[in-house]
Amino acid sequence: MAAPTRTRNETGEVTRDRLVELLNDDLAREYQAIIAYVVYSQVIKGAEYMSIAKELTKHAKQELDHALVIAKQIDYLGGKPLVTPKPVKMAADPEALIRFDLENETETIRQYRNRVRQCEALGEFAMAEYIREILKNEQDHQIELATALGEDPPNMSEEE
Ligand SMILES: [Fe+2]
Ligand SMILES: [Fe+2]
Repeated sequence: MAAPTRTRNETGEVTRDRLVELLNDDLAREYQAIIAYVVYSQVIKGAEYMSIAKELTKHAKQELDHALVIAKQIDYLGGKPLVTPKPVKMAADPEALIRFDLENETETIRQYRNRVRQCEALGEFAMAEYIREILKNEQDHQIELATALGEDPPNMSEEE
């Protein structure tokens, strides 16, 4: 069976078992996001970062909602939700932390775009809708983080 990390260009047809693996990879990314937002929102200090730190506390709660939705889809497919997050990076510099979040959101968006296509290819249209809802939320996160860094969100439309 292929490793869950080999997914960047894996679009279209997958088996239900493979979809469970991929959703568990998504769940590990959601756990990672919860931890990162809980911790970063508290350790980011300084007047210029006050408003983004406040936003990060909101992100933390939304990531928990995402994790619950993804775990439910895994259970629905007959799989077992895993318990291990992807690793969370730490740094002293607030800007570095915001950039870790931005990079993670970008990877998450890339993965969920694939997941919508894979769910639809399997005829799992409701699941595709749940993931679309999460995807909208992740794109908002990405925009907020890029804005906090004074950047445009990464252009991802040319990737696929
Ligand atoms: Fe999320
Ligand atoms: Fe997010």
